[in-house]
Amino acid sequence: LNYNVGRERRYILEVLLNGLRRLEYRGYDSAGIAIDSDLSLEVQNENGKCKPYDSASPLVFRQEGKIESLVTSVYSAVDKLDLDLEKLFLVHAGIAHTRWATHGVPAPKNSHPQSSGQFDEFLVVHNGIITNYEVLKQTLIRQGFTFESDTDTEVIPKLAKFVFDQARDGEGGVTFSQVVMEVMRQLEGAYALIFKSPHYPNELIACKRGSTLILGVNELGGETSRHLFHDVKALTANEKPKELFFSSDLCAIVEHTKNYAAIEDNEIVHIKDGSVSILRFDYEKEMPASVQRALSVLNMEVEQIKKGDFDHFMKKEIHEQPGSLTTSMRGRLKDGIVGLGGLKDHMRTIRRSRRIIFIGCGTSFHAALAARPIMEELTDIPVTMEIASDMLDRKALIFKEDTAVFVSQSGETADTLLALEYALENGALCLGVTNTVGSTLARKTHCGVHINAGCEIGVASTKAYTCQIVVMVMIALAIGSDKLSTLAKREDIIAGLTKLPEQVHDVLELDGEMKSLAESLIDEQSLLMFGRGNNYATALEGALKVKEVALMHSEGMLAGEMKHGPLALVDEYLPIIVIATRDDTFRLCNVRDNNSHLFYCFFFLVSSCIIFLFIYSKQQSVIQQLHARKGRLIVMCSKGDASLVCPDGRSRVIEVPQVVDCLQPIINIIPLQLLAYHLTVLRGYNVDQPRNLAKSVTTQ
Ligand code: G6P
Repeated sequence: LNYNVGRERRYILEVLLNGLRRLEYRGYDSAGIAIDSDLSLEVQNENGKCKPYDSASPLVFRQEGKIESLVTSVYSAVDKLDLDLEKLFLVHAGIAHTRWATHGVPAPKNSHPQSSGQFDEFLVVHNGIITNYEVLKQTLIRQGFTFESDTDTEVIPKLAKFVFDQARDGEGGVTFSQVVMEVMRQLEGAYALIFKSPHYPNELIACKRGSTLILGVNELGGETSRHLFHDVKALTANEKPKELFFSSDLCAIVEHTKNYAAIEDNEIVHIKDGSVSILRFDYEKEMPASVQRALSVLNMEVEQIKKGDFDHFMKKEIHEQPGSLTTSMRGRLKDGIVGLGGLKDHMRTIRRSRRIIFIGCGTSFHAALAARPIMEELTDIPVTMEIASDMLDRKALIFKEDTAVFVSQSGETADTLLALEYALENGALCLGVTNTVGSTLARKTHCGVHINAGCEIGVASTKAYTCQIVVMVMIALAIGSDKLSTLAKREDIIAGLTKLPEQVHDVLELDGEMKSLAESLIDEQSLLMFGRGNNYATALEGALKVKEVALMHSEGMLAGEMKHGPLALVDEYLPIIVIATRDDTFRLCNVRDNNSHLFYCFFFLVSSCIIFLFIYSKQQSVIQQLHARKGRLIVMCSKGDASLVCPDGRSRVIEVPQVVDCLQPIINIIPLQLLAYHLTVLRGYNVDQPRNLAKSVTTQ
């Protein structure tokens, strides 16, 4: 919204369309926009509409496909209608939306803004999902409404119109916030909504329950005051001009202002003639109460959301990892001690937990899996893993003696948030690990740690993954810091963390090698990855990267399971990446395995040649078995081990620096991220916005 700015409508359109570009990573199958029109009656009649009110009706554009197709259609329509884009607006409110289809295929009719019907009396953009929309739809149909889209959202503007008409037919008028309050009373599900209506010119309403909603404030021509704002008085001509922004993500407002407020659940923000009031919705009460809110200052630079010299965000984010890991650790490792401010008040409870449960989806789940071995080793607390959706499907048992660790880059993944609600209901201590300050996860957990990886735009998570692992290793160090038995190990890890960014920097030098490997794999149908121990997660995550961006079938597998099925797939054609860097699974067979123990003793006696220790190590035997079946192997090993893992020189080898075992997954994933990136570019697919995917899956 623009107040007293006197800027032309072209500027406002550009702000909205650019905001959509910034949010496109969250969904990109269709988009839409509504702006105030100054259309003359004749033009509207030509369009099949007539002007129903004194104020101008909004102009609505909806388009299937990427944001750029909306941009083209908006400007060509504007040209056709001969709209005066330079026309100054003293108060102007526009809304826009980019969609990731849940209900209904990507199509203009299913894009937002969704409308109340003829004349667009109420327009709504929505992030989230309305779970009782079927019931509402049937009720509204009975009231004479006809539905045009297949979306859940369409019930919202229609409900608003129904409420408005009912109130208008009664005594006295109804305010915009009263209409929205009544709509909220009827809605179930998760939502952040913005309402626009020609019945309420110069007004806009936003509200939320479940999904994130950010308000940005930019007072032009001076510093924005950061004091509490509460029923800010309407601006008069003498007051500072102002721009106000609503967004479901800070990325869309950072280039305009750093002053923002995160709107809480059940709050309604009513903007009218330049005044902002935040009201608290209450089911029980007729009238909402006013709320006071201080503006926060955003700690994000515009550069973070731009590609800079890189062709793609994914490449930029892969290469940012030395820096993002440094930021993740900054201020948290001092004199060999890990300090995590967000956990200190709950450390006693965490240490007394009967169990730690890691919960997440996609890459975040993999990061937790990578951290699981060290969490168990340093804390002596059993760690179990839950994919959020599966936890909910099973209604998995969870107790108040459990510490549930929720891992999510965005902090907004619907399944993870629902699992969080479930864990809270069951009394577990809930700890959040997220990249997003102010996210729902950050707000709803009892305690937590931000990973501080910086804004991640590429849909395929890269730098957030490695930072999540580092943060969870630090959490393990902090929980286990009272144990003398693991002191040496903890010292090793802390020394390893200090050197890690430099070593990640070195691994990034493999870029050219990974590109050439990608060239050799470009036409493959399938790619397997085997890992175990600390690097089981690496195999899963490497395969996920290839699958999601390069659109090539790829599976990560536990090497220990190879003999139980996957071996049947092995032939001289199928490429297989084996992760065989040195760690406990590489060095020795499990000493509890009696046969292998005897086997080692025997070889020690007859040969005393240390090399046998390696040859019969677990991952080595996997390589041997794959070789025996003429497997087409690509082996990732520690620097200097090439001839050991591949004595006959038949396999392709990727050598990486050896680091302390729990940090090895961070090193090992980087070549695989680069491989996925190059495969995607070579195969001609969209790296940053893979087909059918979205960065933040805010629906179940
Ligand atoms: C989506 C994204 C993945 C991400 C997953 C979990 O599927 O495409 O890249 O790993 O959601 O997201 P979160 O924000 O919870 O880490």
